[in-house]
Amino acid sequence: MIKNMFLVTVLTAAAAFFLSCGAPANSQLDIIPRPVSEKILAGEFLITSDFKIVLEDENEAVRRVADHLAACLEKSTGNHPDIIVGAGGFNTLLLQAGVSGIEPEGYSLRVNPDGVVLKAADAAGLFYGVQTLLQLLPAPIYRPRPSAEAVSWSVPCVVIEDAPRYAYRGLHLDVCRHYFPVSFIKKYLDYMAMHKLNTFHWHLTEDQGWRIEIKKYPKLTAISAYRNETLVGHYSDTPRRYDRTRYGGYYTQDDIRDIVRYAADRFITVIPEIEMPGHSVAALAAYPELSCTGGPFEVRTIWGISKDIYCAGKEETFTFLENVLLEVMDLFPSTYIHIGGDEAPKDRWEACPDCQKRIADEGLHNEHELQSYFIRRIERFLNEHGRQLIGWDEILEGGLAPGATVMSWRGMNGGIAAARQNHDVIMTPTTYCYFDYAQADRAIEPLAIGGFLPLKKVYEFEPTPADSLTEEQQAHIIGGQANVWTEYIASEDYCEYMLMPRVSALAEAVWTWKQLRDWDDFSHRIQKQYQRYMYMDANFRIPTPVIADTVQVRAGGAVTIDNPAGFGIIRYTVDGSEPSVSSPVFSDSLVFESPGVLRSRLFLPTGRGSSIISTVVEVK
Ligand code: ACM
Ligand code: ZN
Repeated sequence: MIKNMFLVTVLTAAAAFFLSCGAPANSQLDIIPRPVSEKILAGEFLITSDFKIVLEDENEAVRRVADHLAACLEKSTGNHPDIIVGAGGFNTLLLQAGVSGIEPEGYSLRVNPDGVVLKAADAAGLFYGVQTLLQLLPAPIYRPRPSAEAVSWSVPCVVIEDAPRYAYRGLHLDVCRHYFPVSFIKKYLDYMAMHKLNTFHWHLTEDQGWRIEIKKYPKLTAISAYRNETLVGHYSDTPRRYDRTRYGGYYTQDDIRDIVRYAADRFITVIPEIEMPGHSVAALAAYPELSCTGGPFEVRTIWGISKDIYCAGKEETFTFLENVLLEVMDLFPSTYIHIGGDEAPKDRWEACPDCQKRIADEGLHNEHELQSYFIRRIERFLNEHGRQLIGWDEILEGGLAPGATVMSWRGMNGGIAAARQNHDVIMTPTTYCYFDYAQADRAIEPLAIGGFLPLKKVYEFEPTPADSLTEEQQAHIIGGQANVWTEYIASEDYCEYMLMPRVSALAEAVWTWKQLRDWDDFSHRIQKQYQRYMYMDANFRIPTPVIADTVQVRAGGAVTIDNPAGFGIIRYTVDGSEPSVSSPVFSDSLVFESPGVLRSRLFLPTGRGSSIISTVVEVK
C-alpha cells in the first residue's frame, strides 16, 4: 500500500519513465538494495577526523543509530566521531527523526560538500539511511580494522529518498542441524542489517538438536542438545557413513537475551521457531512420554523426516509446550512466535489410542484436523499472551488457525490460499529462497542438499503473485524471506558462502520497488558489493569467469573470458592442473593453435579463488 505522496510521486514518475523507455534508468550509485530515487549532485563530502554526528534532540533510539555509525566508522578509519546534540552544520551528519511525510523505515539522505542531513519518521529509517551512507563510502569502510592503505573517505553529493516495499524482510538460520556460536549469530545479524533485512527467523529446535535453554526442562539441554554422531556425505549416499563424534551445543538464556538486544540495536526482530508437532525427536529423546509410543528415542543423527512426533492426544504434550513457550515469550519480545507445523507424518497418530480418542472427543474427521486442533490450541495460548502465531504452509491442512500467519515454502500456492482466506503471508518458496540449494553446477560446488539456485534466480523472486490475488488479498503478502537450512552447512565459512551474494538479491526482492528491479542494473551494482564482502572478510561465493563450456576458434584465434566481478584477476591453465595464484594471468584474450582444455578461475586481491571453470577449446 502506498500511503505517502512522496512515494506516489516518485514511483509514478518512475512508472511513466519505464513505460516510455521500457526499462528503468541505470543506477549510478552502487547501492544494494536499490533505493526509490537517487540524484547525484556536484562535489563530494569528506569524512575527516573532526567529523561529528549530531542528534537534533536527545533520543535513545536515535543515539543507538549514532553509536552504531560511530562504531562502524571507528573500525575501519580508526577515528570515533563525537556524538553531540545540536543543530548540525559544517562537517557533520545531522540525524533528524520524527519527520513527517516519510514512510515507516524510510529515509531521506542529502549529502552536500559541507555536511550530511539524514531525515526519517522513525529511528529504523535513520538506521537504513546510515546503511546507505556506508555504501556511498569507498568499500574499505567495511574493513573490520583500520586500513593499512590510506583511503580518502569521500561520499558523493547526492539526494536519496527511500522506503521499503515490504514490512517483513526476513532471513532464517537453522542452528539445529549445525550449531553456530553467538559470535557468528551476531555476524549474521550484521550481514542482515547491511542488507536492510529486519526479521531474523531463528530455527531453534529440531530432530537433530534442541538449542534453547529452558529452565523448567533441564533435560532439553542435557540430553536433547547433543547427538551421538552425524551423517557424513550426502543423505542419499550408499552405504551411509557416520562420523562417530558427539555433536551439539545450545544457547543459554543469557546468550539469547544478548542476541535479542544485539538484533534490536540493528532494528532486527528475532522470531524464535519452536517446532511442533513434527521435527521434535530431540525433545522426545529427553521426554519420551510426550510421544505416541513412549519411545525410547535418540537425538537423530541423520537428516530427513521422522515419523515420531509429539502426541496430540496426551495433555502432557500441551503442558510441556505451553511451559516452553512461556519461557520463550519471556526471552523474545517479538509479536510473532513460529511454531513450525511442517513435515509432520500422521502415522503415529493413526495408531495411537490417545490421538484417536482426541479425534473422537473433539469431533474431528481425520489426523489433518487433529493437526489443526493442535495448532489452534497453541495459537489460543499465544494469543492469550499477546502474541501471534506463524507456521509453515502445512498448517493450512485441516483448516487454518484463525489468526495464523502462513510462511509459504512449498512454492507460492500455500501463500496464495492463505491470502485468499485473508491471512497474512510470508513468501519463502524453495524455488527462489532456499539458500541451502547449490549456487551453480554441482560439479564445481561444495556438497549441498541439492537443488539449483543461482544468484539470478533469487533475483527473479517476486513475493506478490499479483495475477492470482485481488489487490486486497495482495496486501496480505507482508514480505519474503530466505532460509538457510544447515544439514550440509557445518561451518561459518560455508554458511557465508551460501548466504552471499544471494542475500543481496533477496534484499532487492523485499526492499526495492518492483518497477526499479532490473537484473542488468543489479549485475553492475553487485560488483561493488563483492568488494564490500571482500573487505569484510566474508567468505562469499566469488563469481566464476564467464566463458562457455565449449568454444570454437580458428587456429591462431583468441578465446575471451569475462570477469563478472569487475576486479580481481583471472588465472588459467591449459595442462589440466588447477589454476592457482601462481598460474598465468589471463589478459584480454588467449590464442589457441591446437585444441585443449582451458581451466580458468577468478582470484581476489586477497588470494581467494573462485570455483574452477573448464572449457573445451575446439580449433578448426
Ligand atoms: C521446510 O523447509 N521444511 C519448512
Ligand atoms: Zn498420540
